Amino acid sequence: MDSIKRTKIKDLLKTEPGIEVLAKGWVRTKRGNKQVKFIAVNDGSTIHNIQVVAPAEKFDEELIKRITTGSSLAVKGQLVPSPGSGQAVEIQADEIEVYGDCDPMRYPLQKKDTSLEYLRTIAHLRPRTNTFGAVLRIRHAMAFAIHKFFNDKGFVYLNTPLITESDAEGAGDMFEVTTLNLDNVPKHNGKVDYSKDFFGKRTSLTVSGQLEGELGATGVGEIYTFGPTFRAENSNTPRHLAEFWMIEPEMAFYDISDNMALAEEFVKYLVKYALENCMDDLLFLNEKYDDGLIERMRSVIEVDFARVTYTEAVDILLKAQAEGQTFEFPVAWGVDFQSEHERFLVEKHFGKPVILTDFPKDIKAFYMKQNDDGKTVRGMDVLFPKIGEIIGGSEREASLEKLENRIDELHMSRKNLEWYIDTRRFGTVPHSGFGLGFERLLLFVTGMANIRDVIPFPRTPKNADF
Ligand code: 4AD
Ligand code: MG
Repeated sequence: MDSIKRTKIKDLLKTEPGIEVLAKGWVRTKRGNKQVKFIAVNDGSTIHNIQVVAPAEKFDEELIKRITTGSSLAVKGQLVPSPGSGQAVEIQADEIEVYGDCDPMRYPLQKKDTSLEYLRTIAHLRPRTNTFGAVLRIRHAMAFAIHKFFNDKGFVYLNTPLITESDAEGAGDMFEVTTLNLDNVPKHNGKVDYSKDFFGKRTSLTVSGQLEGELGATGVGEIYTFGPTFRAENSNTPRHLAEFWMIEPEMAFYDISDNMALAEEFVKYLVKYALENCMDDLLFLNEKYDDGLIERMRSVIEVDFARVTYTEAVDILLKAQAEGQTFEFPVAWGVDFQSEHERFLVEKHFGKPVILTDFPKDIKAFYMKQNDDGKTVRGMDVLFPKIGEIIGGSEREASLEKLENRIDELHMSRKNLEWYIDTRRFGTVPHSGFGLGFERLLLFVTGMANIRDVIPFPRTPKNADF
């Protein structure tokens, strides 16, 4: 069997017929009659299957019986032009070896129930479906494009720690990391004695690599992180995960305008990359789940994103409210926008992606650059159709005095942040950065409606299976 080299199905489908080939994969379907069987085989390299034609006289009946949906096999034969529609070539089988049988009575991936909800309960087998094959290939392509984008610009990929003692976003929704015996926690004056813990202090999983990212940027100039982040917020929504991946570029000498320009260029690059490199998978998803997907992707790369301040956006929303638009959460200056507000701005008012800036300081993190009005900070959120917030970032407060005052105002510990404050103490520079939620991007470029369907093994409240 292995006397010739195996070719991946993606490449086979583009190969000129007339040669002997070896393919390996999993059976998607088998049909046919007594004389001949048609077996659709997929190896995950592409959304498309290769058709294997197996005449009954060439093969043992027992072997043919073992070829069922989900079984795995190797097939050697001639690559010939396919008379059937839908594929240019097929394999006229000479030899078939079944690697693994797959009991049709027990195999969970049957045609009957392939709803996305059901597939989440069998996430260990999801990669074998067309849908998750497509999602996983697009996810990979986006990860590759992210590294390429920053590498081409001379950014340094910085690995920031996952275990940390700081709460970068000040949100307080962190998972604690401990080796203390939870049945018998050591105490000192009635409180947990963290000096007995593994790190000798209280530590958690990081919510963001930004603070350490700034340490890198204020040395090597331009960095980006790309890693998992963890948030214990109890938001069971189609857009939140407890464990998600984030890309956080951080750039010395960038002001908020430079930051916005980079964010816009970055997401457009990624969407364009998907359109140029993942079209087979996009066509499948467009047809099966979201017939506006490709059009929506094209539309964002062709337009200039709207740029509006938070205050201007509040005025737009208030005006809409006065004219009869209803929101579940009423709008007022000072409140954090809900996804319904973000989507109104993007989908109804502007009809394109929106970059919001200059938020009330009380709804944003301590590190954002303070504006002269004393009320707002130089944050920015990029809002996308169907998704809402896809990027959050800001210009950073570069003044030592203002940063320390803000830390005090918020009753945060300066002592724990001395290392961070040092960047402002020694050769401080204007600098900016942002975070792109990787799975939010994937929602946009796959058309999936639930964030649990764009990550292989989702972690959400009450769910950490697999
Ligand atoms: O807006 P966020 O909280 O910003 C930060 O963490 C900054 N430190 C980023 C920076 O300036 N370097 O999160 C950034 C992005 C959001 O816009 C969203 O796309 C995504 O991360 N995100 C989530 N994605 C999935 N599940 C969650 N629970 C998310 N929380 C945030
Ligand atoms: Mg945010």
